[in-house]
Amino acid sequence: MEKRLSVNLQGGRHSDVYFSSSFDDLLKKTEEWGDNVFWVFDENSAKLLFSLPEKRIVLESGEIHKNISSLEAIISSALESGAARDTRFIAFGGGVILDMCALASSLYMRGARLTLIPTTLLSMVDATLGGKSAIDYKGGKNLVGTFYPADEILIEVSTLSTLPDKEFRCGMGEVIKHAFLSSSTELFGFLEANKDAIEKRDRSTLETLVLMSLEVKKEFLEKDPLETKGIRSFLNLGHTFAHALESMEGYSVSHGEAVAWGLGRAIEASSGLGLVSQSFSTSSLNLLRSYGYDVDYRIGKDQWEAFLQAMRKDKKKSNGVVNFVLLKGFGEPLLMPLEDDFVSSLTVSP
Ligand SMILES: NC(=O)c1ccc[n+]([C@@H]2O[C@H](COP(=O)([O-])OP(=O)(O)OC[C@H]3O[C@@H](n4cnc5c(N)ncnc54)[C@H](O)[C@@H]3O)[C@@H](O)[C@H]2O)c1
Repeated sequence: MEKRLSVNLQGGRHSDVYFSSSFDDLLKKTEEWGDNVFWVFDENSAKLLFSLPEKRIVLESGEIHKNISSLEAIISSALESGAARDTRFIAFGGGVILDMCALASSLYMRGARLTLIPTTLLSMVDATLGGKSAIDYKGGKNLVGTFYPADEILIEVSTLSTLPDKEFRCGMGEVIKHAFLSSSTELFGFLEANKDAIEKRDRSTLETLVLMSLEVKKEFLEKDPLETKGIRSFLNLGHTFAHALESMEGYSVSHGEAVAWGLGRAIEASSGLGLVSQSFSTSSLNLLRSYGYDVDYRIGKDQWEAFLQAMRKDKKKSNGVVNFVLLKGFGEPLLMPLEDDFVSSLTVSP
């Protein structure tokens, strides 16, 4: 495996990202830790291995299981397997497994070692770097968690070959977001030029895509590792609109579709306020459309009140005002409140 990226985080901690040349290469790397490991899978990620390691837990899949019972199951199973403080917890799965295993390892004997092996596109580009671990609690998403960066992140893009299209598109929404947040137009250009290869999940194209996306996230994390300076909140570009849509629709719309729609709204808001040019807005919306996202969707007039209420619950409020992440150009995000009438003009069908 080759180390391709290293991210410096708080307290001198750092995360190294390795890309493997094949699935066997990945497994060989994990053998370096010998027997002193404890693996966490879900029922889908477990199917990617021909034989499962002895010290392991396989959890049910899905956000609904990102809860305190699963956390307890991980900890108690690790204990039964004889795990000690120097044991390495290895999370092998999507963002749900990564977040829960990271939380368990941060709590286990006050902190065990941690390796993340993401197996969804979203988890590769978004849930590996930055050290956020969590479970959902009493209806609050990611309500209980810690900052606990993995020192090692191992990426094998062939794991994505079994990923359902819906999940792949979920990750693509975040990749496109990173393209807008990047101060260089390289990722944006790569997305424009390599759509077919990306959608066919060509190995080397995906490796480049994931690496470029992680490089963008790294920039923001290193400037604001604990999310205290407001810089990391720029990574929520499009998400205020997206969360309101998801919440209003009772989560029947997929997160990726909602994020892509939210990106479209943030770009139109930026263009409407004269922060970006019309041509920036047109090419950005066209990129989203080319990946099949319905950025022209508008909610019905009768849904506006519910949308507004959902938006007001946004976590990213300061002094009771919802701040939106907008853009002044590639890699130039800013936070600002928006008038309700303006938001309505961007979201509601005329
Ligand atoms: N820690 C962070 O910084 C961070 C960032 C973004 C998202 N997240 C969290 O990540 C979670 C979402 O992650 P996700 O989208 O990966 O969801 P997920 O983990 O639920 O995975 C999506 C689905 O794909 C299945 N799956 C996983 N790998 C597969 C594979 N290779 N082939 C076939 N099926 C596979 C899973 O079993 C699941 O059914 C949320 O809980 C979110 O809060 C965390």
